[in-house]
Amino acid sequence: MSETALVLGAHGLLGTEVRKQFEACGFGVEAPDKREVDVTNDLDLHPYFLHTQASIVVNCAAYTKVDAAETERDAAFALNAGAAFNIARYCTWRGMKLIHLSTDFVFDGETDQPYRENDPTHPISVYGESKLHGETLVMDKFPKAIIVRTSWLFGTSGNCFPKTVMRAAKQGKPLHVVNDQIGSPTYAKDLAAAIVSLASASVEGGMYHVANAGRASWHDLAVECLNQAGIRAEVVPIATHEWPAAARRPRFSVLDCSKYASLGLKPMPDWRDAVARFVNEEADL
Ligand SMILES: NC(=O)c1ccc[n+]([C@@H]2O[C@H](COP(=O)([O-])OP(=O)(O)OC[C@H]3O[C@@H](n4cnc5c(N)ncnc54)[C@H](OP(=O)(O)O)[C@@H]3O)[C@@H](O)[C@H]2O)c1
Repeated sequence: MSETALVLGAHGLLGTEVRKQFEACGFGVEAPDKREVDVTNDLDLHPYFLHTQASIVVNCAAYTKVDAAETERDAAFALNAGAAFNIARYCTWRGMKLIHLSTDFVFDGETDQPYRENDPTHPISVYGESKLHGETLVMDKFPKAIIVRTSWLFGTSGNCFPKTVMRAAKQGKPLHVVNDQIGSPTYAKDLAAAIVSLASASVEGGMYHVANAGRASWHDLAVECLNQAGIRAEVVPIATHEWPAAARRPRFSVLDCSKYASLGLKPMPDWRDAVARFVNEEADL
């Protein structure tokens, strides 16, 4: 009989793709929404974990409003750290495989070398702090857990930067986009495939960086999306300080994914290839 995966946050940008990918690979899938299982509420989690048929848990549930987190610290920590810890606790108890999601925002970006898993962390936002605290609690409670750090997600199942840019360009709005932050744009669909591969393989627990190959600025990403979509629009490059935001972002947060690559699983494609597929898929929706 096929294994069953429990996807938490299964209706978000990444979770939706993870759910679909498990289904496509023949797994049973449990995908409760927030009303069925509020992961910050132990009165929901305990009975759910008591009865679940799942042997794999992928935790995509998160507080992801990076700017709002600056003033909603408790809510960010409750979800990104407290709930993450409880989920790890229940996975230990039930002997389940856990894949927990984290972020490039655990780094400060004061480098120009891609970050490896063991590089020192130093978040510069409340969101980053809360995710780092979640990583630490998960690892302490359940060293066999797999923690996947990823970056700059985009996809068809939620709001994301490429959609915002394409929508604004179609409406003829002026586009001013930051060109001095560099990262690894990552297609949720590609990451979901990598997560299902990690869940299926015999992989040692620990931290893994998983992102599409290559690097880009937000400006590069905007231009590539518009070119691929055949939308003609001027994209004016601006500096970070010209786009004030509540939370600071790392200047450079490219992830070195060689540890993931060394597992011999399907390699992550280049981000430009990912953008081309995303734009086609968006056009078909
Ligand atoms: N987006 C990025 O650029 C990015 C980059 C790096 C890492 N990550 C990490 O990747 C993971 C997935 O991110 P994402 O972009 O897919 O996030 P997302 O679209 O915001 O999805 C988060 C999901 O969590 C659910 N959720 C929120 N509060 C919950 C609660 N109390 N109980 C149960 N579920 C709850 C949300 O449900 P509702 O929609 O109903 O609130 C939503 O389905 C996160 O760990 C994030 O930190 C994201």
